[in-house]
Amino acid sequence: MSSSTASPSTIPSDLESFLSSPKRMLINGKWVNAKSGKTFDVYDPATDQVIAKVAEGDRDDINAAVSSARAAFDSGPWSKMTASERGRLIWKIGDLIEANADELAQLETLDNGKPLAVAKVADVALAADMFRYMAGWATKIEGNTISLNVPYSPGSEFHAYTLKEPIGVVGQIIPWNFPLLMAAWKLGPALATGCTIVLKPAEQTPLSALRLGELVAEAGIPDGVVNIVTGFGETAGAALASHNDVDKVAFTGSTEVGKLIIGAATGNLKKVTLELGGKSPNVIYDDADIDTAIAGAADAIFFNQGQVCSAGSRLYVQRGIYDEVVAGVSEIAANMKVGSGFDPETQMGPLVSREQFDRVSGFLRAGLAEGAEASAGGGTVDRNGYFVQPTVLKNASPEMSVVREEIFGPVVAAMPFDNDGEITTQANNSTYGLAAGIWTRDISKAHRLAKSVKAGTVWVNCYSIFDAALPFGGYKQSGWGREMGHAALENYLQTKSVCVSL
Ligand code: NAI
Ligand code: MG
Repeated sequence: MSSSTASPSTIPSDLESFLSSPKRMLINGKWVNAKSGKTFDVYDPATDQVIAKVAEGDRDDINAAVSSARAAFDSGPWSKMTASERGRLIWKIGDLIEANADELAQLETLDNGKPLAVAKVADVALAADMFRYMAGWATKIEGNTISLNVPYSPGSEFHAYTLKEPIGVVGQIIPWNFPLLMAAWKLGPALATGCTIVLKPAEQTPLSALRLGELVAEAGIPDGVVNIVTGFGETAGAALASHNDVDKVAFTGSTEVGKLIIGAATGNLKKVTLELGGKSPNVIYDDADIDTAIAGAADAIFFNQGQVCSAGSRLYVQRGIYDEVVAGVSEIAANMKVGSGFDPETQMGPLVSREQFDRVSGFLRAGLAEGAEASAGGGTVDRNGYFVQPTVLKNASPEMSVVREEIFGPVVAAMPFDNDGEITTQANNSTYGLAAGIWTRDISKAHRLAKSVKAGTVWVNCYSIFDAALPFGGYKQSGWGREMGHAALENYLQTKSVCVSL
């Protein structure tokens, strides 16, 4: 049942030059220290060692960044560029990400802990693709012409149309689970629509966003269009969310902080989009291809150490195959190689931070105390760094915290179900509604459950498939609005109606 470990990480030589220079913030095209002069430590989660000191931005720095974004939006070269020019610059960011893929992947592994191969094929590749996808949209943002009837003015003629205009200065606050990719999801549509941005990366993982800031400048995005302020949520993040000259805030993170963002936005009624937590059901029917479903169920929860908002953390298995599936997922969990993301053998890295390690181990203790039973894992790994065992819990029931709350770690609760009606109720028995998985060979059954499950994304016979073209976001308390796809552009546009008397 114990997980094996790999050797500790060292800082790859490719990163030495980036890490040796002071890590400053990007404001109005300049790399600057925090006005307070303060910095904070950034850790390698595989070793618990400090790897960088980063400028600790706060309200004054946010104010400077917002002023810079405002000036760039109102009167900078960005506002005068054609959509085609804008699109070409955004495309170039994608090219530069690809050209620097190895370095960016290493940075992600060092800062977040994830396996290097995952960082490269998932985080970095999808980030490049997101900019390219959004680059194409820059030239395709169009309003409509609308015929009017105006019943109280018979015989009069009008020419009416809508303009789609960028919303203005946007604040973007992102989490630590996919640091570069979350920056790409946010920056891509904001740039495509012509907005200007103040981005606040998560304090746990600010490094790849700072490297991306260098690439954004290299691509030729004008000064002040993308500003990056590093710092803590309660200070820099809160100052950005409440700033009265910010027109919109886009947030990804916990549902708890999402609610604080809504409160902070009331001052100037800035627009808000939120991508929040989840507790997604993954449903395996007894007519599924069982081997594929077992592997898929393991991947749905263990990918990225379980630190995925759409992780398949509630595993529902039809009763006749419950024992077989639990045994299969448990075997995968027990044999997973847990270790440094730089070890090519590693399948699961550390959690991102000591705080997350404490949080996930707290959930494990609570679940076991409430009567759940670990058929794999169940504890932490005895070595430096923030390692938790891939864990499968059985005998879990709906009222347990491990079934209700987002753990955001490699912990799945497996529960049996008997029939279609019951599984629909169980799947929807959550305050969240981000994603769901369905495994069956019966297409009618799959489409029926896909329709009745309250979730923003439903995967059938697959899981964790993300694409720049496919909208992603939450029902219920999993959020407001959609990321990716052309739906994401709407978050950054407003509609103006123009009516002309002929
Ligand atoms: P968090 O929601 O506190 O942090 C996310 C981002 O929000 C970070 O950039 C942080 O600096 C910022 N932030 C924090 N407090 C803020 C405030 N008052 N005003 C403005 N910005 C603020 O998430 P945390 O504490 O890192 O993780 C706690 C839990 O949140 C996780 O265990 C997980 O359940 C959930 N989470 C969900 C994510 C998702 O992708 N939906 C991502 C990260 C965490
Ligand atoms: Mg927090």
